[in-house]
Amino acid sequence: GSESGGGSEAGGGGGDAIVMGFSQVGAESGWRTANTKSVQDSAKEAGITLKFSDAQQKQENQIKAIRSYIQQKVDVIAFSPVVESGWDTVLKEAQGANIPVILTDRAVDSADTSLYKTFLGSDFVEEGKKAGQWLVEEYKDASDTVNIVELQGTTGSAPANDRKSGFAEVIGADPKFKIIASQTGDFTRAKGKEVMEAFLKAHPDIDVLYAHNDDMGLGAIEAIEGAGKVPGKDIKIITVDAVKDGMQALADGKINYIVECSPLLGPQLMDLAKKVVAGESVPARVVTEETTFTQEQAKEALPSRQY
Ligand code: AHR
Repeated sequence: GSESGGGSEAGGGGGDAIVMGFSQVGAESGWRTANTKSVQDSAKEAGITLKFSDAQQKQENQIKAIRSYIQQKVDVIAFSPVVESGWDTVLKEAQGANIPVILTDRAVDSADTSLYKTFLGSDFVEEGKKAGQWLVEEYKDASDTVNIVELQGTTGSAPANDRKSGFAEVIGADPKFKIIASQTGDFTRAKGKEVMEAFLKAHPDIDVLYAHNDDMGLGAIEAIEGAGKVPGKDIKIITVDAVKDGMQALADGKINYIVECSPLLGPQLMDLAKKVVAGESVPARVVTEETTFTQEQAKEALPSRQY
């Protein structure tokens, strides 16, 4: 079909390329950049016309983008919701216009799950648990208190909520683990550094940093080095994502453990979009497969890492 990008009838197809409106969270992290590239490359590969917008981490921008996709009568809307709540109204508008919606990467908390066709992405609670399990194992012989600081992701986002709760659940079984400070670093390097500087000033006795993504961990490493401490030794660091810069810091011994969160959602998203537009049924939930990395495993994986 043609790829004119001029829009097509909702629910159409009819030989023309499928038009997808995609509202991205922003460009806050290395993960996000890799995710955007995966979506754009896969759309091209699949012959899907992509209308893409970057919301700069603002829900109001995403709602605007989704409304404009509805007006343009795209065939399918996909988006990665910056926060979990507050989507019912706009999702009902899409449903009213008969345009199917696919959630990618992050969930919404809408009680009415008929407002979207499927949710493709990671199990963030599981990621938080994996981070906690490593810590429990690492300190299994220690009897002293383990002082932990936490850099949370974007306030109200599914990965921040879930990575926090999964981690807390696992370490909560042993009272020696104490979260002495926990604050958002917005998933960015700059904010991760800034908040870690404040943590270091307020708490001279930090044993562990748990950062909800690599970028905040990388920013925090700068703060730790700036304070004359050795990241990975004086302060052990656990992060989530496993993007190249994170993996490099892990291989270099500055991070101790990374829980993988895959940004390569594009191919599966395009498959789901084709099925949804064709009226075929799709699973309500598609969970991404992912692993974890120690320092040794990072050294092995780095040369072939795609992002
Ligand atoms: O929603 C996924 C999270 O968003 C990634 O872990 C983080 O790096 C990104 O900003």
